[in-house]
Amino acid sequence: MPAITVTAPGKIILFGEHAVVYGRPAIAVPVSQVRARAVVSANPHGAPGDIYIQAPEVDLEARLADLPAENPIALAISGVLVELGVARSPACTLRVTSTIPVAAGLGSGAAVSVAIIRAFSAFLGKALPDERVSALTYEVEKLHHGMPSGIDNTVVTYALPVYFKRGEPIQILRSPVRFTMVIGDTGISSPTALAVSDVHRAWQENPASYEGLFDVVGQLSQAARRAIQSGQPDELGSLMDKNHACLQQMGVSSPELDHLVETARLAGAQGAKLSGAGRGGNMIALVKENIAPAIAQALLQAGAVRAIITTVRPPRIH
Ligand code: PMV
Repeated sequence: MPAITVTAPGKIILFGEHAVVYGRPAIAVPVSQVRARAVVSANPHGAPGDIYIQAPEVDLEARLADLPAENPIALAISGVLVELGVARSPACTLRVTSTIPVAAGLGSGAAVSVAIIRAFSAFLGKALPDERVSALTYEVEKLHHGMPSGIDNTVVTYALPVYFKRGEPIQILRSPVRFTMVIGDTGISSPTALAVSDVHRAWQENPASYEGLFDVVGQLSQAARRAIQSGQPDELGSLMDKNHACLQQMGVSSPELDHLVETARLAGAQGAKLSGAGRGGNMIALVKENIAPAIAQALLQAGAVRAIITTVRPPRIH
């Protein structure tokens, strides 16, 4: 049997991080330049049930049976086995690699899970539908922080721009015109769980002001959805600036993020904000396509460890 290879993209949150945990809408888009990859190959001489895992980037080389149940890779695999009612998989090797920076707000955890769940279910001959891939990935996301909104697993599974509100059917966003973002990485690792629990504590201490901030952010997401769908992405710039100000007030920005955001604006971006949980990780800037390389260069000169240019495109007509 040939090896099965599946990849999944990274993601950025354009609007609504943190507020989305509290039921407000958010917008996220896939970033296909960075990807997680899972390759499953059969071990014809292995004993049934024997699953060997290689994940060189996290220094992991182990049999599934020797991993703790709460290991994210183990949880993704066991989720598939339970879902499909398979007690023993044929012996195989699962190799996981990724070019998505970890703990940087680019959806690395969700992408790894989506790739594993798709590859492993296909290996078992029962490729799961998107809805189940997303739901199983959500279960793994819970390991990263206790109350994920569900936006990461959704955008990474569907690999399309999404307007996401907890508990509501997902809406795929179709932009009639293309627009370009530059992503700048502070290089500072920031676990999502920490920022999310800090916001939770602050919200408990001061519910009125945090609810007010979340409401403003929710309105920005709604305005952004209209701008995207009506083909007026230039309007996103000032909405991003406003969203960044809200995130600063929530206490999740950092001097490094603020510096890169300011650098992008001074270099000619139409707007900029942090993206993801904050504190470190990445920021994003809306730019005119022709100046994207110059903005990326400005970010690198200002201390970004990496800059990615990504374009949101109109859907292909088949
Ligand atoms: O995984 P990150 O860093 O992109 O953060 C996800 C966005 C949050 O709103 C902060 C958390 C969530 O579950 O939606």
